[in-house]
Amino acid sequence: MENVQQERIAATATTPNMRDYENTYASMRWEEVEKQFSWHETGKVNMAYEAVDRHVEQGRGSKTALLYSDASREESYTFADIAAQSSRFANVLRGLGIGKGDRVFIFMPRTPELYFSLMGALKIGAVVGPLFEAFMETAVRDRLQDSEAVAIVTTPALLGRIPRSELPALKHVIVFGDDVPSEEGIVDYRTEMAGASEEAQIEWLGREDGLLLHYTSGSTGKPKGVYHVQNAMIQHYYTGQVVLDLQPDDVYWCTADPGWVTGTSYGIFAPWLNGVTNVIRGGRFSPQDWYATLQKYGVTVWYSAPTAFRMLMGAGDEVVQQYDLSKLRHVLSVGEPLNPEVVRWGLKVYGHRIHDTWWMTETGGQLVCNYPCMTIKPGSMGKPLPGIEAAIIDDNGNELPPNRMGNLAIRTPWPSMMRKIWNNPAKYEEYFRLQGWYVSGDSAYRDEEGYFWFQGRIDDVINTSGERVGPFEVESKLVEHPAIAEAGVIGKPDPMRGEIIKAFISLREGFEPSEELKKEIYTFVKVGLSAHAAPREIEFKDKLPKTRSGKIMRRVLKAWELDLPTGDLSTIED
Ligand code: PRX
Repeated sequence: MENVQQERIAATATTPNMRDYENTYASMRWEEVEKQFSWHETGKVNMAYEAVDRHVEQGRGSKTALLYSDASREESYTFADIAAQSSRFANVLRGLGIGKGDRVFIFMPRTPELYFSLMGALKIGAVVGPLFEAFMETAVRDRLQDSEAVAIVTTPALLGRIPRSELPALKHVIVFGDDVPSEEGIVDYRTEMAGASEEAQIEWLGREDGLLLHYTSGSTGKPKGVYHVQNAMIQHYYTGQVVLDLQPDDVYWCTADPGWVTGTSYGIFAPWLNGVTNVIRGGRFSPQDWYATLQKYGVTVWYSAPTAFRMLMGAGDEVVQQYDLSKLRHVLSVGEPLNPEVVRWGLKVYGHRIHDTWWMTETGGQLVCNYPCMTIKPGSMGKPLPGIEAAIIDDNGNELPPNRMGNLAIRTPWPSMMRKIWNNPAKYEEYFRLQGWYVSGDSAYRDEEGYFWFQGRIDDVINTSGERVGPFEVESKLVEHPAIAEAGVIGKPDPMRGEIIKAFISLREGFEPSEELKKEIYTFVKVGLSAHAAPREIEFKDKLPKTRSGKIMRRVLKAWELDLPTGDLSTIED
């Protein structure tokens, strides 16, 4: 593999958090970071305490923790406010008999109440399962069934997507909003909160006790529950310092939804563990609203994703000039390959380098990144986080020399590493099949200078606008449609979204291909599963390529689509 990217953008400023990458890497000890947390003294810990109540105890209660706005609300909360609201919610949950280890799901738009609920649930030691607001019934059901969630927090608009009759473990549905139906099992958030005390006993936990359950897609089977524990906070805190470069007076904005791990690890924990003011914007993406948010709050550190940056780029440089973004100091990206073109554009219009970061739901925190003190090579994900050993290995676990493509792997363990896949120990073991390594499923190479370069996924997982979609989940939904006999789903390269979902479909007897049917099928997935999983492109085929055992060969579909050689077809059916 030849490294053609010689372009470099040097660091322009030093920062107290990391002045020199090589020295920091050589001297980094996780034990030193751990000393920041209460278990160092007491043996016990709780994320909600460390991220919120601790600041109140240590005299920072009046500092702004949350700056929230959407089309109809504009609010500000101090750390003391968040401590009080989350304690109220903790008491509400306790009153319902919910406690340590119980799975509590949160299924609501990004509003302050989402953050109160999430912190309140953590305060009692519950394991939180955050869901995207965009999820439809099938997606909600699969996750609640697998986790046997006992409670869910939601809004009247989303209530209809929770199939309660199919969820025997689900005892309580807590609804925030107007017109909460009075039904058995439904709890009115506002009424309960109004009657709850602002003082709550924190459930003291061990570092291996549960924190979050984030469902994510693989190439086969239903979404998997990635289980994270309290110990992850060490990494959230540390990366908040050396990657996000958070400093006490920062105003930080992570644009991700908590339904995605970026929206919890870096939308909540990293900033609050570091006692930094956190901006949350509700509602949909719009370039004007986003720039207005940066301007209004004087955002200094901004963490977003390639699709968003590409859309901002598409909106034009003139839009940027209408806003005062002079407070901005540090810009970061995650979730998909960050195009060199976007990095160059960012430098031109914002005057800042966009720092790519690589990690996964399973890793719980950032692992390979570009740091403020480091020269950036546009297109590279950067170098391993101090305290982390990353490597390129072959399929037998041997490390490969520079410029050879292979499996991107991380030496186990690290603080925020997932601790299990819920109900699926075999799947968990698969990630660790090569002794001493976590195998990411991404392919990459490392150049002579130690920079990592992302090449692609090794499996069929699709990354559309930074969202991970399992083709199997989409195929399963498609074949529920009465017209569809078989379906195979692939990611098709797309300049804006990275990939879009393309479905190859064979129809049942008596159905004819038509544009109308395509639209109907798109809507069927959108309404049944979620908008981001719906196939934007559909192609009808008489037959789909299958193995003798009946598995649809997505590799062949992809080769058709991209006009590539189909490779070894010896296992094809006919
Ligand atoms: O393929 C990689 C891609 O996104 C996958 C992880 O997806 P998810 O678990 O939804 O992300 C969680 C939060 C990061 C990876 O296996 N990915 C992530 N970051 C990058 C990336 N691909 C290229 N460059 C990145 N910086």
